[in-house]
Amino acid sequence: MELAIIGAGWVGVTTAAAMADIGHTVVCADLNAERIEKLNLGEVPFFEPGLFELLQKSLASGRLKFTTSNEEAIKAGELVFCCVNTPTLPDGSTDLNAVTQVARAFAQDHRDGAVFVIKSTVPAGTAAAMRRVMTEISQRPFTIASNPEFLAESTAIRDTMIPSRIVIGADESDTLEKVKRVYEPIIANGARVFISDCATAEVVKTASNSFLATRISLINEIANYANQVGADPVGVALGMSLDPRIGAVRPGVGYGGGCFPKDVQALIGEGDRTGTPLTVLKAAHAANYRQRTRLYDRLSAALGGVAGKKVTIFGLAFKPKTDDVRDAPAITLIDQLLKDGAQVVAYDPQVRPTLVNDHHGLVMASSALEAAQDADAVALMCEWQEFIDLDLKTLQHVMKGRILVDGRYIWSRKTVESLGFIYVV
Ligand code: UDX
Ligand code: UDX
Repeated sequence: MELAIIGAGWVGVTTAAAMADIGHTVVCADLNAERIEKLNLGEVPFFEPGLFELLQKSLASGRLKFTTSNEEAIKAGELVFCCVNTPTLPDGSTDLNAVTQVARAFAQDHRDGAVFVIKSTVPAGTAAAMRRVMTEISQRPFTIASNPEFLAESTAIRDTMIPSRIVIGADESDTLEKVKRVYEPIIANGARVFISDCATAEVVKTASNSFLATRISLINEIANYANQVGADPVGVALGMSLDPRIGAVRPGVGYGGGCFPKDVQALIGEGDRTGTPLTVLKAAHAANYRQRTRLYDRLSAALGGVAGKKVTIFGLAFKPKTDDVRDAPAITLIDQLLKDGAQVVAYDPQVRPTLVNDHHGLVMASSALEAAQDADAVALMCEWQEFIDLDLKTLQHVMKGRILVDGRYIWSRKTVESLGFIYVV
C-alpha cells in the first residue's frame, strides 16, 4: 500500500522504516530540514537500538523516502499517518496545533478516499474535531481513523513489529479494513487487534500510559515505605509481581520521558475540563515529582548540604538504551544541585554533551570512573547495564567520599554497605 507519514520523531521514523520493511511504499515528511537530510542519508537523528539497520534496509529497498514537503507526502498516501508531537500547554491541555496543521494540509492535498490516521497521542474527541476541520476545506471524499502507538523507546522496533495490540478506531467498516490491511503481516504473526470508535481508541492510549504511570508511583511509595521498615524494596516488588494480576514493575526515582509525564498531565487536564476529576491520577503525578525531591533531600542530608561538594551523576537519559533526556529525573537533580552550589559531573553512555549544554556548569565526562574521580557522592539515575556491571571496589577507589545514591535500586544495600559505602535510596 502507499503510505504517508507526517512527523519524523521516534514514532514517525520507526513507523516509516517498519512499514517499508513489511512491503509498503512510504513517504515520510518532517518540517525539520536538517532531520530530513540526515534521514535520507540513512542517519537516525536519535539513539534507538536497531533503527539504524532497519532504516538502511528500508532505504535500500527503494520503498522509503523522506521529504520536507507535507504536500508531497500527503499526495503519495492512500493512508496518511499523523505522527507529529502533541505537547502539553501550561494549563494542562494538549497543544493540537501541529495535528491541526497536518489535518489542514491533508484536507487540501489528499487523494480521493484517503484515510487520515491519527497516531499522535491526543485527547478524546480529536478525531471528531479534525473531521470538522477537514470537512470545511476538503473537496473530495476522505475518512478518519484513530490508531494510537504503544511503542516504548529502546524497544520501538519490537513494539511496532510484535505489538501488544493494534488499536484501530474508526466509524466506517471499510476504513477499519484499510487500516487493518496496513498491518496484515504483523497481524498474521499473531498481533491482537482491538477495534472501536475513534474516541474509545483515543482514551485507550492516554489511559494506558496513565495506568502504567500510576503503578510506578504506587510501587515507588511502597518502596519508600519498605525501605523505612527494613524490608527489601526490590524483593517486595518481585514478590508482588508473581501475581499475574500485578505484573512486573520496578521501583526507583520515578518516571520521565516524552510520554508518561505529558500524557498523565493531559488526562488530568481533560478530567477536570469535563467535570470528571481523576483524583488517583493527580496523586500519582504529584508522587512522581515528590520522588525526585525526596531523593535530592536525602542526598543533601547525607552530604551535610551540597554547596561546594562534587556530585557525580551516572546516567542522564530518562531510561536506559535511549539518549532521550526529556523530563529525565537526572536533569531535575542536576539543575537543583547546580542551583544549590554543587559541582556536578555526569556520564551517560549515549547522551552527547550537546543534548545537555543548556545546563550551564554541568561537566560531562567520557567514562563512569572519570566522572566519579574525587566525587563526594555518586548518584545513579538511569540503570544502564554499564553501571550495573561497574566494579564497586574500583569506584570506591577513585571517589573521595562514600555516598552512593541508588535512584533505580540496582545495588543491594547489604553489598554496598559491606564495602563501606553509605547507601542512599
Ligand atoms: C510521538 C507522538 O507523535 C506523540 O503524540 C506521542 O505522545 C509520543 O510519540 P515523538 O515521535 O516522540 O512523538 O515526537 P518527536 O520526537 O517530538 O517528533 C515529532 C516530529 O514531528 C518532529 O521531528 C517535528 O519536527 C515534526 N513536526 C512537528 C512536523 O513535521 N510538523 C509539525 O507541524 C510539527
Ligand atoms: C511509554 C509507554 O511504555 C509506551 O507504551 C508509550 O507508547 C510511550 O510511553 P517510554 O516512555 O518510551 O514508553 O518508556 P517506558 O519504558 O514505559 O518508561 C517510562 C518511564 O517509567 C521511564 O522513566 C522508566 O524509567 C520508568 N519506569 C518504567 C519505572 O520507573 N519503572 C518501571 O517498572 C517501568
